[in-house]
Amino acid sequence: MIRILTIETTCDETATAVITDSLEVLGSVVASQDKLHQKFGGVVPEIASRAHLENIIPVLDETIQRAGILLSDLDAVAVANTPGLAGSLLVGLSAAKALCVALKKPLIAINHLQAHIYACKIAFREDPFPCIGLIVSGGHSSFYHCATPLDFTALGGTIDDAAGEAFDKVAAMLGLPYPGGPSIEKAAEKGNPYAYSFPRSLLDEPERLAFSFSGLKTAVRYRLVGPGKTTEPVIVAAGLLEQEIADIAASFQEAVVDCLVGKSIQALRKTGMKTLCLGGGVAANNRFRQKIENAAQNEHIRLFIAPITLCTDNAVMGAIAIERFHAGLFEPLDLEVYPGLIRQK
Ligand code: KG4
Ligand code: ZN
Repeated sequence: MIRILTIETTCDETATAVITDSLEVLGSVVASQDKLHQKFGGVVPEIASRAHLENIIPVLDETIQRAGILLSDLDAVAVANTPGLAGSLLVGLSAAKALCVALKKPLIAINHLQAHIYACKIAFREDPFPCIGLIVSGGHSSFYHCATPLDFTALGGTIDDAAGEAFDKVAAMLGLPYPGGPSIEKAAEKGNPYAYSFPRSLLDEPERLAFSFSGLKTAVRYRLVGPGKTTEPVIVAAGLLEQEIADIAASFQEAVVDCLVGKSIQALRKTGMKTLCLGGGVAANNRFRQKIENAAQNEHIRLFIAPITLCTDNAVMGAIAIERFHAGLFEPLDLEVYPGLIRQK
C-alpha cells in the first residue's frame, strides 16, 4: 500500500491528509481561519500565513495520529504549490520540504485547481476524465478542458471577480459574516430569488466562455445606496428589515447561479463534451447544485459534484498526488511556489 501525506495551505485553510493509492483517506484535518478574517470581510494574506505557521504542526500531528501510522510509514509528501497566496503557499512548501529531508521521502507538487476537480474522482470512485472542469472558488471561476487529471487546458474564466469573491463582497455590503458564500446562502433561504432582477452578464454571448460579476455587484450596491452615492452600503443594510436582506441575498445568489449554470451548458455545447466536473467552494452552494443537476439532466450531461466538505479547501483532494506518484513526477527540493501561475504538468 502506498501512503502519501498531502498538505494544503494555498489560502486560509491549513489542511493535511494521509491518502492511499486506492484513494482511501486514512486521516484528514482542516483548520479553518474564518474567525480570524471575519472582521476584515475577506482573507488578509499576512494574517493567513501567520496562522498557517501556528497551525501546520498541530494539524499534521493530529492527521498522523488519526491515520494510525508513523511518519516513517509515508511513501511521499505532497504539497499544493500553485496557485494561491505567496506567504501561505510558502508555509506548506517549507513544511513539506522539511519532512522530505528528515524522512528521506520524495516530494510531489500539487496544482490546487487540478486537485479541486480531482475531488470529484475521489468522491465518486469513478473516472470523470476527459471532462469540462469548472472551478468556482474565492480566487477562480474558470473552465478547463481536463483530458486527464494532470492535463488541463484553460478555456476561459472571469474577466473581473471570481464567483466566491462576489459572494464575499456582497455579503460584506449586506453586513453578513465572512465567508460570504455560506452566509448569503443561509440568508437567501428566507428570501425571494425573483424579488430583484439583477444582471446575468455575458449569457447572451454563448461563444465566450467568460464570467463577469462586477455589474452584478454594482447592481446590489445601487439597490442599497443608489447610483452615484458614497454612503457605505453596509450602513444602509443595517437599517433594512431582515426580509429585505433575505430578498437581496436570494436575488443575488440566483443571478450568480444562473450565470454559472448557463455558462457551463454553453461550455459543454461549444466543446461537444458530455461530462462536467465542478470544484471549489462555490460548488458547495445548494441552489447551484440543485439548478446544475436539473440542467445536466435536461442536457443529458454526466455531472460530478463532490460532497460539500470536498468542495471547500481540504487536503483530501490532494490525493491527485497519487497520479503523479504513479507517473514518477517528483520534484527537486528547490521547488518554488507559483502564486499566480498554474503549472500544468
Ligand atoms: O475553494 P475555496 O474553499 O478556497 C479557494 O480556493 O478560494 O473557496 C472559498 C470561496 C469563498 O469565496 C466562499 O465564500 C465560497 O467559496 N463559498 C461559497 C459557499 N461556501 C463557500 N459560495 C457560495 N455558497 C456556498 N455555500
Ligand atoms: Zn480552493
